[in-house]
Amino acid sequence: MKYGFLGCGNMGGAIAARLSESTKDIAVSDRSGRAKSLAASLGITYLNNISIAQECDCIFLAVKPQMLRDMLAPLKPMLALRRPLLVSMAAGITLAQVQEFAGCALPVIRIMPNTPTAVGMGVIPYCRSEAVTDRMLAEWLVDMQPCGTPDALEERLMDAASALSGSGPAYFYMMLDALADGAAACGMPKAKALDYAARTMAGAAQMYLETKRHPAALKDAVCSPGGSTLAGVQALESAGFRSAVIDCVTAAYRRNKELGK
Ligand SMILES: NC(=O)c1ccc[n+]([C@@H]2O[C@H](COP(=O)([O-])OP(=O)(O)OC[C@H]3O[C@@H](n4cnc5c(N)ncnc54)[C@H](OP(=O)(O)O)[C@@H]3O)[C@@H](O)[C@H]2O)c1
Repeated sequence: MKYGFLGCGNMGGAIAARLSESTKDIAVSDRSGRAKSLAASLGITYLNNISIAQECDCIFLAVKPQMLRDMLAPLKPMLALRRPLLVSMAAGITLAQVQEFAGCALPVIRIMPNTPTAVGMGVIPYCRSEAVTDRMLAEWLVDMQPCGTPDALEERLMDAASALSGSGPAYFYMMLDALADGAAACGMPKAKALDYAARTMAGAAQMYLETKRHPAALKDAVCSPGGSTLAGVQALESAGFRSAVIDCVTAAYRRNKELGK
């Protein structure tokens, strides 16, 4: 299977980089030529959009959602002729919309990856159109392994996944930086504070994944009555931490819905 990327920025570039560990049969395109240096460093090819449509069997659509329709318009005849597998990562854009923009009912996999794909830790919900055969899907899943964890998800839940795991790294980085600022305010060098905060975040997440205990129970195990952690927890509750986080995810969800209109 020859892979192509129409657009190769933050997300497309991360997937192309990981895929290039299992195959070098990959071509990328963009508008500015910035992806040329990425292609050279990964040992893959830089082409224009039409050549990607002409040559590739599986094409990742990695432009911003608002650009997808215009980017695909000139490629419609070639796509209809060759019927490649399209993989769309565009937030809010449905399988049916991708097929409409492509001009015909091509096989389409819709994914919602996140940037930790760059280090092989991506959370990658996916759904597929009817034209994607089990065999196509199986081959694609094998090649995606270096990217992280693909997980089949009903299409109606893709916008919720986008608001959670797609956008989630940004929220965690804000939390990471804020935690480290707190420790820096207590005198710890910022670099060490970031390191401790990141490893605490990763360790806490791993404990949840391994034990599947309710987060409230895991939190209680850290909180002694009258202790310092509860003083911190109380400060977070007073500042509306939980409702701010819930509002954050639902705001991202609403924006995904707007992008799909
Ligand atoms: N970033 C994330 O965390 C994330 C997570 C999940 C899903 N996504 C989805 O991934 C997609 C890409 O997002 P991104 O964050 O990677 O955006 P980005 O960094 O801005 O990259 C967009 C890429 O598209 C290229 N491009 C734009 N118009 C093009 C055209 N007509 N032909 C070929 N290439 C074109 C850009 O090239 P130039 O730079 O040369 O203009 C750039 O390489 C979006 O649909 C987004 O919803 C992103």
